[in-house]
Amino acid sequence: MQKTLKLGASIRGVGYHVSAWRHPDVDPRAAEKIGHYAELARIAEAGLFDMVFFADALATRAIDSPLGAAARYPGDAILDPLMILPALAMETRHVGLVATSSTTYHEPYHIARRFAALDHISGGRAGWNVVTSFSNREAANFNRAEQLSKPERYARATEFLETAIGLWDSWEEGALVADRQSGLFFDPSKVHAVNHVGPHFQVAGPLTSSRVPQGRPLIVQAGASEEGLDLAGRYADVVYSIPRSIEAAIANRRELQARAVKFGRTGDQILSMPGVQVISGETEAEAREKYRVLLDIVDPLTALGMLNRQFGDVFTPEMLDEPVPAEGPAEGTSYSVARESVKRAREKSWTLRQLCQRVGLGQHFQIVGTHDRAAEVLAEWFTSGACDGFNVLPSHTPGNLADFVEHIVPRLQQRGLFRTAYEGATLRENLGLAPL
Ligand SMILES: Cc1cc2nc3c(=O)[nH]c(=O)nc-3n(C[C@H](O)[C@H](O)[C@H](O)COP(=O)(O)O)c2cc1C
Repeated sequence: MQKTLKLGASIRGVGYHVSAWRHPDVDPRAAEKIGHYAELARIAEAGLFDMVFFADALATRAIDSPLGAAARYPGDAILDPLMILPALAMETRHVGLVATSSTTYHEPYHIARRFAALDHISGGRAGWNVVTSFSNREAANFNRAEQLSKPERYARATEFLETAIGLWDSWEEGALVADRQSGLFFDPSKVHAVNHVGPHFQVAGPLTSSRVPQGRPLIVQAGASEEGLDLAGRYADVVYSIPRSIEAAIANRRELQARAVKFGRTGDQILSMPGVQVISGETEAEAREKYRVLLDIVDPLTALGMLNRQFGDVFTPEMLDEPVPAEGPAEGTSYSVARESVKRAREKSWTLRQLCQRVGLGQHFQIVGTHDRAAEVLAEWFTSGACDGFNVLPSHTPGNLADFVEHIVPRLQQRGLFRTAYEGATLRENLGLAPL
């Protein structure tokens, strides 16, 4: 049987476009309405997506540079994904439910317990996107002036995951017997203390939850540094990455498979799902028109705010109609995606306004073209070994996600590259991962 690709719908407020809330088809307040997320989960499930995926951060992001930028940024009024997902579990039956949670600002017992609850509530559809967080603003909300160094954050993350896995394993399969006749509720020989003692955590266990339907929730990871790749190689079932070219994606997937092998796993136990944004139409002209509307609604102040957050206070509104400066900013940031955007703007001789429009729409791998062409590009990535599937990043919701489900999914199915019905009962089964 031909291998089929996997799909995630990455959901952030009302879309990845920084001014998506201004799109004429979008409810500008929907990012804090549960009905919006329920609608997106139903659309994703109608499209047979493997999962909906929620990014998260533990601090506001906007900076007021240039002046006025902060007040125009919509991304700081959002809901905690772990509060959204149980509601979505009640709205859906098949689609996986993945939330981002930080290992830097939680304790393993909290996280293991919450994701165990989500796995029970959803009947085996829970996933945890493990992040170490990356900003001092998050540190400032958790008793620190500055964040821990990257090696420290990843050392904590590794011990965190080890401990969480110990907690999920603290109840063996079949430990909960609930036998009315004998009066035995659980089999004490199958429930174990954890007694973890390490540099960051001391956790006795066991967990206040019997073994979850998936054995353990799906582990997703997104860090791209050496330390991040090692963490993925050791624990991740799925990696969300943001390569901008097919070549970069192929190299990234090979690297991840090698890391899995380094930690005693096999290459097929780790799935690469790069982010992609698709803006497509029946005709090239229709796709271009959708793209133009999206570029037009980018608020230049908001986009300048994003650039200044990444590069320091280097861009001003007065520079908008000048070419992107030939020197400077590109080297000044640790955000590789932002560096690449500036580099591309220089190569194409864009003005700062044009760069702002592109940055505002999203700095991920993008396909703008006919539905047929979009499906062809996705097929090419998958069949050439660049990925195991895609994390779809809608520009605005629900419209752009609905477009993907209506036009791209059937084209992938016609090529035999995507399922026509869910195969399994759990997220792990649908992803084709071996039982634990
Ligand atoms: C595609 C992608 C998605 C990410 N999503 C989140 C997120 O939702 N929340 C978060 O705190 N960090 C997120 N991160 C940040 C990573 O978890 C990590 O902290 C950051 O990339 C720095 O580590 P690195 O140098 O290993 O990449 C994401 C990173 C990537 C590459």
